Amino acid sequence: MKQLKLTGFIYFLFFLTESLMLPTELQDLDNFNITQKFIEENVEYITIITFAQYVQEATFEEMEKLVKDMVEYKDSCMANSMLPKCSKLPNDVLQEAICAMEGLPQKHNFSHCCSKADAERRICFFYNKKANVGFLPPFPTLDPEEKCQAFKNNKESFLNHFVYEVARRNPFVFAPTLLTVAAHFEDVATSCCEEQNKVNCFQTRAVPVMQYLKAFSSYQNNVCGTLLKFGTKIINSINIAILSQKFPKIEFEELISLIEDVSSNYDECCEGDVVHCIRHMSKIMNHICSKQDAFSSKIKECCEKKIPERDQCIINSNKDDRPKDLSLREAKFTDSENVCQERDADPDTFFAEFNFEYSRRHPDLSIPQLLRVVQMYKDLLRNCCNTENPPDCYRYAEDKFNEATEKSLKKIQQECKHSQNLGKDGLKYHYLIRFTKIAPQLSTEELVSLGKKMVTVFTTCCTLSEEFACVENLVDLVLGELCGVNENRTINPAVDHCCKSNFAFRGPCFESLTTHKTYVPPPFSQDLFTFHPDMCQSQNEELQKKTDRFLVNIVKLKYEVANEELQSLLTNFGNAVEKCCKAEKDEEKLVCFNVESPKIVT
Ligand SMILES: *[C@@H]1O[C@H](CO)[C@@H](O)[C@H](O)[C@H]1NC(C)=O
Ligand SMILES: *[C@@H]1O[C@H](CO)[C@@H](O)[C@H](O)[C@H]1NC(C)=O
Ligand SMILES: *[C@@H]1O[C@H](CO)[C@@H](O)[C@H](O)[C@H]1NC(C)=O
Repeated sequence: MKQLKLTGFIYFLFFLTESLMLPTELQDLDNFNITQKFIEENVEYITIITFAQYVQEATFEEMEKLVKDMVEYKDSCMANSMLPKCSKLPNDVLQEAICAMEGLPQKHNFSHCCSKADAERRICFFYNKKANVGFLPPFPTLDPEEKCQAFKNNKESFLNHFVYEVARRNPFVFAPTLLTVAAHFEDVATSCCEEQNKVNCFQTRAVPVMQYLKAFSSYQNNVCGTLLKFGTKIINSINIAILSQKFPKIEFEELISLIEDVSSNYDECCEGDVVHCIRHMSKIMNHICSKQDAFSSKIKECCEKKIPERDQCIINSNKDDRPKDLSLREAKFTDSENVCQERDADPDTFFAEFNFEYSRRHPDLSIPQLLRVVQMYKDLLRNCCNTENPPDCYRYAEDKFNEATEKSLKKIQQECKHSQNLGKDGLKYHYLIRFTKIAPQLSTEELVSLGKKMVTVFTTCCTLSEEFACVENLVDLVLGELCGVNENRTINPAVDHCCKSNFAFRGPCFESLTTHKTYVPPPFSQDLFTFHPDMCQSQNEELQKKTDRFLVNIVKLKYEVANEELQSLLTNFGNAVEKCCKAEKDEEKLVCFNVESPKIVT
């Protein structure tokens, strides 16, 4: 009944918590207080993140209005926590406030959520998030001088703008990640604005921050999409594999108790419950830090940091060294006589333990590969346990795993080699064609974006010592994005099948896809393939974008055409642009494009 005693102090809280979240030990209490203070101090950011992720169309002025309301709410609850409104759940308070904004639900088309209550409303807001942010203008890029002026004039407003713009474009990124990114960005702005060469400084220092954000956003999208499509069980398996690789010396019991916490934390973070996401994550990380000996030797420095940096740091920490006494393989799962009985006694725990023992011994494998091994083992036992002599049947399981892994490894090596031979542009064209052939129903923008992400995977991973894990883990993120975060997309039957049938085998499933048989190309529209003199003013990057779009549109149209022929169309296109842009006057260019454009495609 320790929890009851604590009710005295929850009245001091701005956002009341459910009793199950209340800490029971002094050290936890300390962390709880620190987290609480952090939440109170970041009410503005928290409000912006919640609002901008749920209602991405909302303007910054609308944000400011809600921020003002929420700060008032916090102040009144801190002054008198006995007010009934102060005992509501934070996410409900925020959603209510969003719904209460005059005219807004109609303006931004979310009144259907406001007419619901409780869990239904929370889910409705979650479904209101749009992963594809093509409807928003591109991320505003200010000139560094202007940026620094704005920063100096009003730091708070500048950073609020930043958080707003990032949050609405990354509607599923977890709040602790976003807050860490905001803190880094503040550091960058603080020091770069002192520099002579601001452009250069922002280039070298802000770009990595944004890349970090993108990487996390992409990972978190994928986790949330997986949670929605496959449920908590698969999230548990993924987390077991990840944590066992990261913390190979952890005890299985410790891992299992952590897994439950981590998976339910994903639930809150994915749903967009910012306050619970922050609070729960902090609690988990505090637990890990308080028992470092049991977890990892690589997190000492992380644990000295404050939230939210501490939490991000632990997530990013390196895999711990393999314990000296860890055998090369766990005999229990292949050499024992009573494997089948143990499996039958408690299948979930049995396979969780197998996952743990296998993953901690194979830090170099990708998560999908580890889960494929678990699946193979399940299938093998299903088969073996029905034979006369099961031990004889499953004894060579390890060889089977190695064989499968070897095959995946070879394939990735080949792909890396292939990608290096193609070069960056060639590789991009390869994936633009590939994705368009698999899923021609997607918009041109999305196909271009997916193709570019694949290029990033290969340029990032190939040549790394963990090449295999890196490629597979990251390719899976791209596929996860294709499959959708908070929706079961219907793209075409073959793709939909790969997206929903088996998480571990998603990659191989996509690989086996070829062109889509029943696809009907759009009617030919010369408009898409008529080019204008403004093409010639395009900077390199702009021209690249147009070329990418051209290629995707061509594939959509000439769906059956062989890849070589597509390459030659691409060359035609490049030649036409070069030829026409040589003309001096705009009218001459226009005439040239009008003559050349139709030739490119026919
Ligand atoms: C936590 O905060 C409460 C209320 O402000 C206070 O009574 C308590 O002493 C604090 N605990 C610790 C461990 O700091
Ligand atoms: C508004 O939302 C409803 C329900 O989600 C949807 O059917 C409709 O197309 C939306 N309208 C606009 C203009 O986005
Ligand atoms: C998507 O499919 C899964 C599994 O079939 C289901 O649990 C989930 O509710 C569906 N989500 C939506 C948004 O329909």
